Amino acid sequence: MIRSAVFALVLAASGIASAAQPVQPVLVIHGGAGVIRRSNNAADEADIRKALETALRNGYAQLKAGKSSTDAVVAALRVLEDDPHFNAGKGAVFTHDGKNEMDASIMEGEGQRAGAVAAVHRVRNPITLARAVMEHSEHVMLVGDGAEMFAKEQGITLVDPSYFRTEKRWQQLQKILKEEAAKQTSTDPEYVKHIGTTGAVALDSKGHLAAGTSTGGMTNKRWGRVGDSPIIGAGTWADSGCAFSGTGWGEYYIRTHAASNVCARVKLLKETAAQAGAAVINGEVVKMGGDGGAIVLTSDGKFAFPFNTEGMYRGWIGADGVPHMALYADDGMTGDVVLKKEEPVATPAH
Ligand code: GLY
Repeated sequence: MIRSAVFALVLAASGIASAAQPVQPVLVIHGGAGVIRRSNNAADEADIRKALETALRNGYAQLKAGKSSTDAVVAALRVLEDDPHFNAGKGAVFTHDGKNEMDASIMEGEGQRAGAVAAVHRVRNPITLARAVMEHSEHVMLVGDGAEMFAKEQGITLVDPSYFRTEKRWQQLQKILKEEAAKQTSTDPEYVKHIGTTGAVALDSKGHLAAGTSTGGMTNKRWGRVGDSPIIGAGTWADSGCAFSGTGWGEYYIRTHAASNVCARVKLLKETAAQAGAAVINGEVVKMGGDGGAIVLTSDGKFAFPFNTEGMYRGWIGADGVPHMALYADDGMTGDVVLKKEEPVATPAH
């Protein structure tokens, strides 16, 4: 009797007993940061909220069923990829040449496995292909035709490129091309500032983190331009303590290695998700001239939405099973870390 009581005390003191406790799962998502004003979105707002809610519910259902954080990230992102309101999958923006060219990546915190694809044109759900690269190849990143050949071998759904054509995105490109021809700076706020990308980070009941990001990149991109989203350490990162997915002006996220930078601060400086996210997204990226946002989730279940734009489509779901969503900078959602600018910083067309 005394011996078993002593044994229980030793277990509790060593943390072994508490380690066996199931972790409360959490899922956090974003659907792009940028110029998101109430006036811009009156017609679409309900659809966007509905899509965010469905993504949260589908992803969280995986976590509640005891599935992995990777399953949750993929389930959530597939919803956003299939919805034309987000710049990923079905709603991907057009390149200068009138194509839809998509990038995606995924990373697991436990073991730090990762997979990524860039410049794919026919993959309906690029996040699923990124996962297949992680799980069924010895590589981390595949691009272009080779990535699509691998998709075919893996039985992943390929579609005709016309599937990705939406009138709204096409008109955005036409407007920019006209302005370029007239040598004007773009006045389209969605082009200038809304570099919408989708992302998800999750913590599962085993305490394992995962992060994923999927995007169509930037309208009017040329020459095979690839942004931060498929680059592990720039747009996506997960380790045992921290997961990150970014949405912003990709070149700056690459130059600040935003994703691994945030998580390194959590690990080495013992910063919270909010502190580390603010230091990099609202600090380093902005000082360099970039903008955007991110989602950050730490292994204690705490999360943050750092962003420096007028809005970010974002949401989270946790213990109460209720999806929480917000679109605008002044929504005041749990986890928001908003950098308010007195004047919108002009972003050069590029
Ligand atoms: N953050 C998405 C991109 O720059 O492509």
